[in-house]
Amino acid sequence: MSAETAATRPNSHADRPYPFLEDRLERLRAAHRYRFLRRVDTAQDARILLDGAQVLLFCSNNYLGLANHPELRAAAADAADRFGCGSGASRLIAGNMRIHEGLEERLAAFKQYPSCILFGSGYAANVGTLSALMEDGDIIFSDALNHASIIDGCRLSRADVRIYRHRDTGHLESLIKEAAGYRKRLIVTDTLFSMDGDLAPLPDLVELARRHGCMLMLDEAHAVGVMGANGRGAAEHYGLDDAADIAVGTLGKALGSFGAFVVCRPPVREFLVNHARSLIYSTSLPPPVLAAAAKALEIIEAEPERRERLLKNAERLARGIRALGFSVPEPVTPIQSVVLGDEAGAMDLCEAMLARGVYAQGIRPPTVPPGTSRIRFSLMATHTDEEIRCALDVLASSLIASGGTNPPSTPEQEK
Ligand SMILES: Cc1ncc(COP(=O)(O)O)c(C=O)c1O
Repeated sequence: MSAETAATRPNSHADRPYPFLEDRLERLRAAHRYRFLRRVDTAQDARILLDGAQVLLFCSNNYLGLANHPELRAAAADAADRFGCGSGASRLIAGNMRIHEGLEERLAAFKQYPSCILFGSGYAANVGTLSALMEDGDIIFSDALNHASIIDGCRLSRADVRIYRHRDTGHLESLIKEAAGYRKRLIVTDTLFSMDGDLAPLPDLVELARRHGCMLMLDEAHAVGVMGANGRGAAEHYGLDDAADIAVGTLGKALGSFGAFVVCRPPVREFLVNHARSLIYSTSLPPPVLAAAAKALEIIEAEPERRERLLKNAERLARGIRALGFSVPEPVTPIQSVVLGDEAGAMDLCEAMLARGVYAQGIRPPTVPPGTSRIRFSLMATHTDEEIRCALDVLASSLIASGGTNPPSTPEQEK
């Protein structure tokens, strides 16, 4: 019998216990789509320590700079002192504390809806809401560039799904007209698109939904705290505050905390409490993050200048990006992409910028469609003019260093 054992055989089962996973990872590497984690050793501020190096941060959703705000930290610490670190159970068991209900009331008032229900995250809110409300025999119309959590919620719901071309309400209407015989019909869209920074055509979507008897669900994840005269979101920006049946917002982006919420009419809330599995079968949000989010709401209401500063910063960055030959959609928002096209180009540019001290993550498929790999910038109210100038200088010099040219705008960029 050979002395060779499974453990000594090269490429044996013991050496490669998951060959099928390794093969898949290898294929990702070959396609320049391999992902890995970078480590931040500081709080989420404009300047962070990333993998041991000081860099300017241009890819955080901490839009208003609240994640490390002293008043949020104090509110979270106080809540931890009074109510502890954990909530202990699902909302439906022992995890429904006064602090949950208090925040829901404040969020409902902020978004001008009659009721609100918290979820563990924006991902859980979209998946839980869509899969609870929609079912076999229903149909969902979903924008082609909607967030992954919406896509997954649509899939889980078992409803039929029709994807309409990005922001194309003509295409949406033709799909609605073709869809007869369904019990419930729902249109769902990001309001501020997370990778392109453009806005959904909300006035047209509201009108279409009303005319065709569809429900409308908006994901305001990136718009809450950012868009609208009072920071209530893109619906407020268009003067359509409570026009949608359902709006999702997150607490982990502009609100500087963690978690998410759905605002809606009371029967929808009641239905979600009974059917949304990501709500029912998951521990409720812990007191410190709830207290931090409540404090963030106060600051958003009391300090509109934060949002104004953020939008000024966005205008400043957009001017620079356009000067380099890339397009930025109107109205300008804090999310702006420099579309390179292929995966390797986007990652080379990301690394070239990092080497010069600016961190804006390269984004590749499947997060964005093939051929639209990019550097995605997101701005904060706490960025200074000098920091934005520095980011633009680094972008320009890195484009040259990484061999990236300034391609003429692609149709995808022109939307
Ligand atoms: C449009 C959109 N919806 C939902 C989410 C998920 O939110 P959360 O990070 O709270 O899970 C994101 C996250 O980036 C998002 O961009």
